[in-house]
Amino acid sequence: MEFYDVINSRRTVREFEPEAVPEEVLGRILSAAFRAPTNDHMRDWHYIVVQDRATAARLLNIIPRGISDADMEQLIRDWNLNDELQQACYRSAVPKQYRMLSEAAAILVPLFAQKTDILHPENLSHLNGFASIWCSIGHVLLAAAAEGYGCCLRVPLGDEGAHARAVLGFPADYLMPCLIGIGKPKAGLAPVPQKEIDLNTRIHRDKF
Ligand SMILES: Cc1cc2nc3c(=O)[nH]c(=O)nc-3n(C[C@H](O)[C@H](O)[C@H](O)COP(=O)(O)O)c2cc1C
Repeated sequence: MEFYDVINSRRTVREFEPEAVPEEVLGRILSAAFRAPTNDHMRDWHYIVVQDRATAARLLNIIPRGISDADMEQLIRDWNLNDELQQACYRSAVPKQYRMLSEAAAILVPLFAQKTDILHPENLSHLNGFASIWCSIGHVLLAAAAEGYGCCLRVPLGDEGAHARAVLGFPADYLMPCLIGIGKPKAGLAPVPQKEIDLNTRIHRDKF
């Protein structure tokens, strides 16, 4: 696929066909992950590929299966989600958090080395490892789109990171920024409408 077609076709996918991702496709996607820019030249990243259903079930059993209407309304208030399209995105995405990952063909678990307290950085450089792994995750999302597959993301809330560490056994000096579900997008899936950005209001020439 042509590069800008990949960029324009990539969308978050939260519903999948019951279909595996071939190993050679996964290999190309993960190889793309390790081509991303890296802050310290080291690409100190690991990816755990979870395909075993029992392991996936243990990994995901901490994620809420859904959300009540009242809790959804509370979340919209608590997180100050004031834009209508943004609210619609959350209303579509939040109830799917467990199912999207449990129905994905595989769960990719990115890990990055973090030597300082990420929640109390002394300067922006202390967040470079975190920034770099997201560059790597961006490559995964685009490579998956180029291969005709789709991904969803789940950023760990509450104890989900510690739970993943306990289930998957990754070392204390590595952090998990998110879970990535990957699979074949469900046929006929309507993408969640996104806010149109008028680039003229966002791109500035020489001065803000
Ligand atoms: C840093 C980051 C965190 C995200 N966290 C979640 C998440 O926890 N759950 C989820 O369903 N989607 C998550 N997403 C996906 C966004 O909801 C999605 O990218 C956004 O709505 C734009 O839609 P698009 O990816 O289809 O263009 C996250 C995306 C990013 C970049």
